[in-house]
Amino acid sequence: MGAMMEPVAGPLIDIIAGARPNFMKIAPIIRAIEARRQRGSTLRWRLVHTGQHYDARMSADFFEQLHIPEPHVNLEVGSGTQAEQTAGIMVRYEQLLLRSPSQLCLVVGDVTSTMACAIVAQKLCIPVAHVEAGIRSGDWSMPEEINRLVADAITSYFFTTSEVANANLRKAGIADERIFFVGNTMIDTLLANLSRLRPPAFWQQHALVPGGYFVMTMHRPANVDTAEGFRAVLAAIAAAVRGMKVVFPVHPRTAKTLAAVGALPPNLIVVEPQPYLEFNYLVRHAKAVITDSGGVTEETTVLGIPCVTMRNSTERPETVTVGTNELIGTDPAKLEPAFDTLFAGRWKKGAIPALWDGRTGERIAAELERLLKAGAGVSAG
Ligand code: UD1
Repeated sequence: MGAMMEPVAGPLIDIIAGARPNFMKIAPIIRAIEARRQRGSTLRWRLVHTGQHYDARMSADFFEQLHIPEPHVNLEVGSGTQAEQTAGIMVRYEQLLLRSPSQLCLVVGDVTSTMACAIVAQKLCIPVAHVEAGIRSGDWSMPEEINRLVADAITSYFFTTSEVANANLRKAGIADERIFFVGNTMIDTLLANLSRLRPPAFWQQHALVPGGYFVMTMHRPANVDTAEGFRAVLAAIAAAVRGMKVVFPVHPRTAKTLAAVGALPPNLIVVEPQPYLEFNYLVRHAKAVITDSGGVTEETTVLGIPCVTMRNSTERPETVTVGTNELIGTDPAKLEPAFDTLFAGRWKKGAIPALWDGRTGERIAAELERLLKAGAGVSAG
């Protein structure tokens, strides 16, 4: 055998992840880049965890279940106000890039880490790719909307989940060559793990049966930041479900308010934040889901499970126009009529949005390779 050639070190992509909803979005991208490397690609990647979410239940459990490799770097920013987290991530990510630059910064979703790292990279003239770009709720009271607007204002390459996102970007003057309609990486993860979903330990303890309970998640400031308001939401939900059980995995932000709510309705099963496989098992077998999350409405759409969203707006309108989601607003009085429709068996069936097919990670990796080969140094807007 002849001498082995040293593999050429190709361009390095930073993959940024900070908070729970990021982890399911990066897993398929890493897998797809690795698959290309197996076939001879020289692309390299570095996983940077900002440490925005740090509890095992909000972070490490997801890495383990979704087989995401250990981050190369953890910026360990921890809790704080919006500005404290943003600033902490920016300072630490800039130090990393100055010490050890990458050739592209890939951010996903709309959390504080997404915006903070995009700003840092672009200021160092490192192009930014944004996965889940272009979606808009129009509601500037949500920190996520500000994160989306800022990140997209300085993104070089826009990877999108829907035609609505494409249209939003075009309206903002982004040239078609920088928009890549690739689908939804969160759905890649869901489809790849469907056969691995498994019941949580309390499934039997509470005698849960498919179709015989609801799942609820709630963590938006508008719904959970005052004990009074949240008490009213919980009472209305407990009444609307007509005595059926409601499984409620509680986000750390919500836990603080829940402690001040006092006596809880007896049909509410309060549990810790669930790992990915258990959470989606619960969703897949629920009669319906009640939520104020964005990502959950995409998962229910693909699973065909009715979803009642307690928000006034959504950045994911296709979950309503195509999928199984209905926006009822934050007024608890709107729950009763929604549940009348559900119990009458008149909830819409829904369909699956275009390109939510489990192949999005592959499309992103192929495009990244093409862009970086073409010498994607151009970070200009
Ligand atoms: C963040 C995202 C939101 C996403 C949500 C999912 C932003 C602006 N928001 O909101 O889009 O839907 O994550 O979970 O980035 N905490 C812990 N342990 C943790 C993480 C947080 O106890 O591992 C506590 C924090 O101390 C804080 C609260 O939970 O008191 C909220 O955390 P934070 O990261 O500020 O935002 P989220 O509400 O989780």
